[in-house]
Parts: sequence; structure tokens; C-alpha cells
Amino acid sequence: MIIEPKVRGFICTTAHPVGCKANVANQIAYAKEQRKSLTSQSVPTPKKALIIGSSTGYGLASRIALAYTYSASTIGVMYEKEASGARTATAGWYNTAAFETFATNDGLYAQTINGDAFSKEIKEETIARIKHDLGKVDMVIYSLAAPRRTMSDGTVYSSVLKTTTGTFVSKSLDLRHNTIVEASVPTATEEELAATIKVMGGEDWAEWIEALVANDAIEKNAITVAYSYIGPELTYPVYKEGTIGHAKEHLHKTADLLTQKYTDYGIHAYISVNKALVTQASAAIPVVPLYICLLYKIQKELGTHEGCIEQICRMFTDKLLLDTPKVDTNGYLRLDDYELDSKVQDKINEIWGEITTENLENFTDLQGYWEDFYTMFGFRIPEVNYDEDIDACVTIPSVSSI
Ligand code: NAI
Repeated sequence: MIIEPKVRGFICTTAHPVGCKANVANQIAYAKEQRKSLTSQSVPTPKKALIIGSSTGYGLASRIALAYTYSASTIGVMYEKEASGARTATAGWYNTAAFETFATNDGLYAQTINGDAFSKEIKEETIARIKHDLGKVDMVIYSLAAPRRTMSDGTVYSSVLKTTTGTFVSKSLDLRHNTIVEASVPTATEEELAATIKVMGGEDWAEWIEALVANDAIEKNAITVAYSYIGPELTYPVYKEGTIGHAKEHLHKTADLLTQKYTDYGIHAYISVNKALVTQASAAIPVVPLYICLLYKIQKELGTHEGCIEQICRMFTDKLLLDTPKVDTNGYLRLDDYELDSKVQDKINEIWGEITTENLENFTDLQGYWEDFYTMFGFRIPEVNYDEDIDACVTIPSVSSI
């Protein structure tokens, strides 16, 4: 079939397998390049990694970096859909099919579990795969961005992107029309806040680590990293002080609790505070896409713009895998250092008030935003022939069809 993008607001309901493969290949090329600059450190590099949320965005970049910079065996956990009838598979499905094929051809172990990472069944299946194939893992990346969590008793918690400090009215980008609108973000109820913490907080991360330890599937001195975001004051009401920010605070506390709990085991849990980037998760947050358009423009002008793979490679090489990891006073790895640089933020604050629909293209990198958006689903990639009639059904070697 000929596959075209079908964009509805902040999501694209189709994905292109050849484009997704090209994306993965580009990220692999970048990760391979990083091998050259590896300095000799006495810390052991990861050899057997579990990546929870491995198919898109930061999780996919982590898997690629671990495999192609450090030659690690990787087991990925994701929640993606294969193609069926006239429907294409999700981008994460195609990314994973491409990654596994490349990795296997390059002699790297790569297996994937497709299912709900929150569930006991998927934890058990993953641990069984680890024990059978790898014995134990020495690196666990937690990169889930999920809208809901189903508990074992059937209770469903849904996360919301709301404030906790009263209605927040701000400029925002209407992604359907590329216009500036006034967004009004309401305050969450206590129940909504608690549900968001259940979904995006640290409880599930802790359950994964506990299950790995209980089943002797994690090495002593293993490292685990969960991804977070803080952002500038401009987005505090909707992010840092919003429901998602409270969930992230819970995630941050979980890192401390995990490190304390497993001191004897030597497991160290880190938070990596990453940069705001266009991913399927961030496109859904009110106000943030407009901020990202402006951030891209300024960081590209300053030469400090990075995508997921650049961020994650820098996290491993410059912050985490050092004799002494570079952390801030809270113990966080700060990959948002370039984003929060005052040169960047002062400029954003200066321009923010001036942006209108009419000058949007001049003042921001709207084009760069959409480029990244389409690229995420495998579209608008120069080397891909989109007129070609292709098969949307692509199998992932290690994932059986449902
Ligand atoms: P994403 O939407 O690109 O990736 C989410 C991943 O989670 C995918 O692999 C998906 O298959 C998987 N997933 C979702 N629900 C699942 C479930 N129930 N079971 C198994 N897998 C499931 O998201 P992105 O943006 O890469 O976010 C990852 C983490 O990074 C999140 O914690 C996010 O808050 C954080 N982060 C994101 C930033 C951004 O600007 N995108 C900035 C800083 C941190």
C-alpha cells in the first residue's frame, strides 16, 4: 500500500515502515560514532540492559545507544500495535522491527516484549526472558510515557495534564491550524492528581526493580535510570507544578528510596532530567509545543540543539558512565543544561510575549517542530520514496503476532 501521514491534532494515525527504519538507521549511525570518543574509565560499561518503554522517543534512543555505543544486549518492553487490514502498525512497532533486524545482523542480542509494562504478567514474562537468555541485567532504563495504568484488580488510573494551582491561561499553539490561541488549563481534582501520580510516578519503576531483585535477575551494582523533566518557569504551572510535575516529584523520591533500599545490593537509581523534545508524549501537553518551537529556534541558532539520541548518548558518555557520575545537588543527571542556559531562557522570555499567528514562522522553529513530528512517524525523510507501494505488515523477529 501507499502510506501517507494522517494527522489528527497532535497524533498521526499512520506510520511508514521504511521511514521508521531510516530513522533507526540514522540513530544507530550516531550511536556508533560515539564509540570513537569513549574515554577509558574504570567503570564497567553496561552489557545487559532492560529498557522499559523502548520503542520510541527517549527509550528507543537509550536502546540504540546501549546496543551500538556499548555493544550491550538489550531486552525492550513496549506497548505497540502491529498492522492489521488497512491500518498501519504504530511507529514504535516499525522502529522495533528495524532495530531488532539491524541488531541481529550486527551480532547483537535484541529481544522485545510487547504488552502492558504495568502488569504482573509482562513483568514475569520479561524476567523469565532475562533469566533464560541473559541471566541478569546490569542496566535498567525506565522510559514509560503512558496515558493510563490498569492495576491487577482491574482498577484503571488515567493521567491528566492539568494544573494544581488554579486555572492557567497561556498562549499555546493550536497544532491543527498552526495558530496561536489562548489555552486555559484547568485545575485537577485531588482524584485526578492521585491518578496521575499512580501512572507517571515512581511506583511501577520500584515494582520492576523489586521484581528483578526478588527473582535474582539484576546484577549487584546495577544502574537504573528514569527520565524526568522540569523545564523553565514559563511552563511551571502546566508542568513542574502541574499534575505531571507532581508525578515526576514522586519519581524523583522513588530514585532515592530505591538507592537506599538496595544499598547492600549496590543498585543505584538515577533521575535524568532531559530536554523538552517533540515526542508522542510531549505533543499532548498544553503550552509545551509552542515552547518547544521557540526552544528549537534558539538552540539551533546557538548550536546547542539536540535530539533524543544526542541527549541519551551525552547522558551515558558525559554524565553517567564516569568514575564519578556528574550529578547536581539533588543527585540528578542534568541533560536539560543547555535548555535551561540563561542565554536560551532570556531569549525565550523576551520573545514569548511577542508571538502571534502572523509572526509565528519568523519567531519560532515551527517548521522544525513539524519536521520532527513527521519524522517520528517515518514521514518526510529525504531518502524514502513515499510513492512506493509497500507492505505495511512487518514482523518483529522476537514478538509473536497477537
Ligand atoms: P514516548 O511516547 O516517545 O515513548 C513512550 C514509550 O512507552 C513507548 O516505547 C511506548 O510503547 C511505551 N509505553 C507506553 N505505555 C506503555 C505500557 N503500558 N506498557 C509498556 N510500554 C508502554 O515518550 P518519551 O517522550 O520518550 O517519554 C519517555 C520518558 O521521558 C517519560 O517519562 C517522559 O516524561 C520523559 N521525558 C520526556 C521529555 C520530552 O520532551 N519528550 C523530556 C524529558 C523527559
